[in-house]
Amino acid sequence: MDLIKQLNETVLYIRSRSSRVPKVGIVLGSGLGNLVEEIAVDIEIPYDEIPHFPVTTVEGHSGKLILGKISGKPVVAMSGRFHYYEGYPAHYVVYPIRALKYLGVETLVISNAAGGINSSLRVGDLMIITDHISLFVANPLIGKNEEAIGLRFPDMSEPYNRRLISRVKEIAAGLQIPLKEGVYAGVTGPTFETRSEYRMLHLVGCDAVGMSTVQEVIAAVHTGMKVVAVSVITDMGIREDDNIITHEEVLHAAAAAEPKLSAIFRELVAEL
Ligand code: HPA
Repeated sequence: MDLIKQLNETVLYIRSRSSRVPKVGIVLGSGLGNLVEEIAVDIEIPYDEIPHFPVTTVEGHSGKLILGKISGKPVVAMSGRFHYYEGYPAHYVVYPIRALKYLGVETLVISNAAGGINSSLRVGDLMIITDHISLFVANPLIGKNEEAIGLRFPDMSEPYNRRLISRVKEIAAGLQIPLKEGVYAGVTGPTFETRSEYRMLHLVGCDAVGMSTVQEVIAAVHTGMKVVAVSVITDMGIREDDNIITHEEVLHAAAAAEPKLSAIFRELVAEL
């Protein structure tokens, strides 16, 4: 079926459940689902009830759309996102992002769990993403372009909005929350990287690496949404002794760092 028609059906359904028009969308990363506690919830809609939405398969992602308010501002949050490694085609991964735009979202606030590559990073750090490098992740805009959504050849000189990056830095400083900044490497997963791959990512200019976000950001920029994204560093890729990384460790570290992220998002949303 025609993409625009699908998006309209999706939005019609969501509107039938809540008449709010959220201008802010939030994507909650792995182990960061407790950010929803910041939301005064109006309604939660499981993804499998929403026409044309994919459903999540990964542990730590519950899979529902939450409409409510943060700091008095109407928001829509994705609790559970879709990853390329789950086997979805790229355009599926970004379907909900496009749906958020059709719902009225102008600014997308993204969080994720990421492996630290830059040796100045530590587990538990927050890193604001200033740019990304996509490595072997299919571009979600491959295929017929929908002119009604965006350009065939979108500019990517500022995928992460500079003004919002500055604001997040100021907010973090005001809250005395240390905030690093850096370039996010988007990989497919689901394997964590080999030692040599972490070294390569460092050499090509990446500071952290993760298995989400890049396709979502490309789709969001294509629609004209402003994007800001923060990584929680959940493990260090480059370490010479014990390089074993587990999903449990990632979820645990993300949950531990989450209150810092919540505090920043609360203030950010208040001024969006
Ligand atoms: N590599 C890729 N994805 C990740 C990592 C990592 O080290 N940590 C959390 N997500």
